[in-house]
Amino acid sequence: MARIFSGIQPTGIATLGNYLGAIRNWVALQDGADECVFCLVDMHAITVFQEPAALREQTRQMAAVLLACGINPERSILFHQSAVSAHARLAWIFNCVARIGWLNRMTQFKDKAGKDREAVSTGLYVYPNLMAADIHAYHATKVPVGDDQLQHLELANDIAEKFNHDFSSTFFPRIEPLVLKESARVMSLRDGMKKMSKSDPSDQSRINLTDDSDMIAAKIRRAKTDSEPLPEQLDQLAERPEARNLIGIYAAILGQTPQEILHRFAGSGFGPFKEQLAEALIAHLAPIGARTRDYLTDPTGLDQILQAGARRAAAIAEPIVTEAERLVGFLARA
Ligand code: TYM
Repeated sequence: MARIFSGIQPTGIATLGNYLGAIRNWVALQDGADECVFCLVDMHAITVFQEPAALREQTRQMAAVLLACGINPERSILFHQSAVSAHARLAWIFNCVARIGWLNRMTQFKDKAGKDREAVSTGLYVYPNLMAADIHAYHATKVPVGDDQLQHLELANDIAEKFNHDFSSTFFPRIEPLVLKESARVMSLRDGMKKMSKSDPSDQSRINLTDDSDMIAAKIRRAKTDSEPLPEQLDQLAERPEARNLIGIYAAILGQTPQEILHRFAGSGFGPFKEQLAEALIAHLAPIGARTRDYLTDPTGLDQILQAGARRAAAIAEPIVTEAERLVGFLARA
C-alpha cells in the first residue's frame, strides 16, 4: 500500500479548476488500495494576509465542498494543516535543507510576489518548503495535483534527496505527481492564457463549485471566445486558447476526449456549444452546491470531522517527524 497526500488552500471557494484538476481525482483515488490524506492548508493560506474570521469560515467551507464532492472522511483522512504540528516542525528542518537558489527559481513565487518582492511575507517565499514537509511528514509517494504544482513537487524531491544525503539516510522516499492529462490546467473564462484561480479579482473568470444554475449559465454565456466556427481537428485550436479551454472543460465533465467533442460541434458557432456546456456543468455541479449548503448548516459537525481527521493524521506524521528530528541531531522530546 502506498500513501497519497494532497492539499488545497482554504482561501476562497473551490473553482472548477480545482475540481477538474485535483478534487475529482482525489475522489477517484479513494476507491483504490492506497491510503489517502487530504489537507486544508490553512498555514499556506496565511502566507497572504487572511481576515481571521474569514479564514475560519473558508476552512469550514472548503471542508464542506470536499465532502460534497465525495471525499469520504471514513475512508480518507481529511483535516486542517495547523492542527498537526508535525508540518511546522518538519518545515523548519526543510527551511534549513533547501537552498535560497532553489526557491529563487519558483515561478509561482515570482507570479504571486509580482513587482513588490520586498513587501511580501517571508512565509510566501518558503511556502514550497512547507509543502514538501506536508508530503514527506507522511512518507507519501503519490501526490495528485494540477500542473501548476509540478515545480513545487520537483523541489520536494530535491529537498528529500539533500536531506537523505546530508544525514546519511534513505529516510524520505521519492514522490510522484499524479496529474490528470486533460484537465491539468483549466484556464480563466476571461483570458485563455491565465489559469482559473480562486484569487482572480474577477468572479466572471471562474466557475465556483457553489455557483447556482443561473450564475453558471451566465458565466458560460459571457465566457470569452472568438468569431470563428469550431474546427474539425483539435490542433486547429492551437492559437485559440479560449475555445480550447471550453472544449477541454466540456470533455472533462463528460469524460470524453476533446476530439470527440469537436466531432459533434465542428462547423458550428459558439452559441449552441455554450448552451450544452452550461447544461452539462449545471447537471454536474448543482448537486455539489446543494450538498455543500447542507454540510454548512452544521459547522460543529464539520469541525468534528476535521478534528477526528487531524488525530489520525498526527498518528502517522508524529513518529516520522520525530525520526527526522533524531536524524538531524535533536535530543529526544519528553
Ligand atoms: P491550490 O489551493 O492552489 O489548488 C488546489 C489544487 O487544485 C489544482 N488547481 C488547478 N488544476 C487545474 N486547473 C486550474 N486552473 C487549477 N487551479 C488549481 C492545483 O494544482 C492543486 O492541485 N500549494 C498547493 C496546496 C498544497 C499542496 C501540498 C498540494 C499545499 N501542500 C502538498 C499537494 C501536496 C496549492 O496552493 O493548491
